[in-house]
Amino acid sequence: MTTVKDPGKRLIPDRKDLLERNFSLDLVAARPMPDAVLMCPPEYFDVVDIKNVFMKDGLSKVDRDLAARQWQSLKEALENNGVPVKTLPAAAGLEDMVFAANQALVGISREGEPYIVPGIMRHTSRQNEVPHYIDWFRSKGYRVLSLPDDLTSNSKDKIYFEGHGDAIWHPEKLLLWGGYGHRTTYSAYNHLIDIIEVPILLLELTDSTFYHLDTAFCPLDHQTVLYYPGAFSKDGIELIETVFESTIAVSREDAFNFACNAIVSGNNVFLERGSVATCEALLDYGFNIVEVETSEFRKSGGSVFCMTLDIYKDQSSPGTK
Ligand code: ARG
Repeated sequence: MTTVKDPGKRLIPDRKDLLERNFSLDLVAARPMPDAVLMCPPEYFDVVDIKNVFMKDGLSKVDRDLAARQWQSLKEALENNGVPVKTLPAAAGLEDMVFAANQALVGISREGEPYIVPGIMRHTSRQNEVPHYIDWFRSKGYRVLSLPDDLTSNSKDKIYFEGHGDAIWHPEKLLLWGGYGHRTTYSAYNHLIDIIEVPILLLELTDSTFYHLDTAFCPLDHQTVLYYPGAFSKDGIELIETVFESTIAVSREDAFNFACNAIVSGNNVFLERGSVATCEALLDYGFNIVEVETSEFRKSGGSVFCMTLDIYKDQSSPGTK
């Protein structure tokens, strides 16, 4: 008799590997879905250097008042649609701290214990954001599981890991999609898999404009994904097309407008205003669209998804926000 096994912890680099191992989504363990998001206000937000192509045009051009209003509107759009938002205070001098998706991976163990894996940021200027996020999660009772990090090392083998900028959970499953190539290194996943013990589907990012996985890939539900094929290798496209029953491919124009940097809550998709073709496709698939404006944050290479971090709200200890 053949026994059907949970795929367990394993790095899955391509479709061949997937098929050889008879991978099926049905066999992957269920994941309780996060029920709140964490945001960090843009009090000190600015564009002071160039870490991605979007920042070239944004240098010193941020309207901080407008940024504050856009951030507040996003927060209210989420809250008005039933998504509780918690906030982490901004720290002076950390101009990118508003991008809450990058400093840690938030997960939950098979036993239902939430944890974080702190990021190891590629740019020195962003490394100081991470301790603020660690402290917040620690105070809320999350376990902190760390990747091996040697920040003083200059070796070519140094690991970088930019949290949910590059690592995105498959909806409802203990299955992770891991982007690498620009910010996060492939090697990060060799270590991550030993820590979080879930299968990881690897996606090489091949276009430096789409420097984080979250700029080009947005799972909408466990069988549908919104993605920009031009950001991926042939193997990556095959992997995505094999695992998801339905794929909605967005144009480069919409991808550049951060259409894939969306967040999903139930049937609602929150995304940057103006991606007409993508919105039509989402409506055809039965999703509701909630458009918001993030022009100031796009100057830094970020939009809706980058500014939010999925968390488990019930972990708060009494007396905290
Ligand atoms: N300026 C930030 C950086 O380059 C933007 C990060 C946007 N976040 C994201 N998840 N894509 O690091």
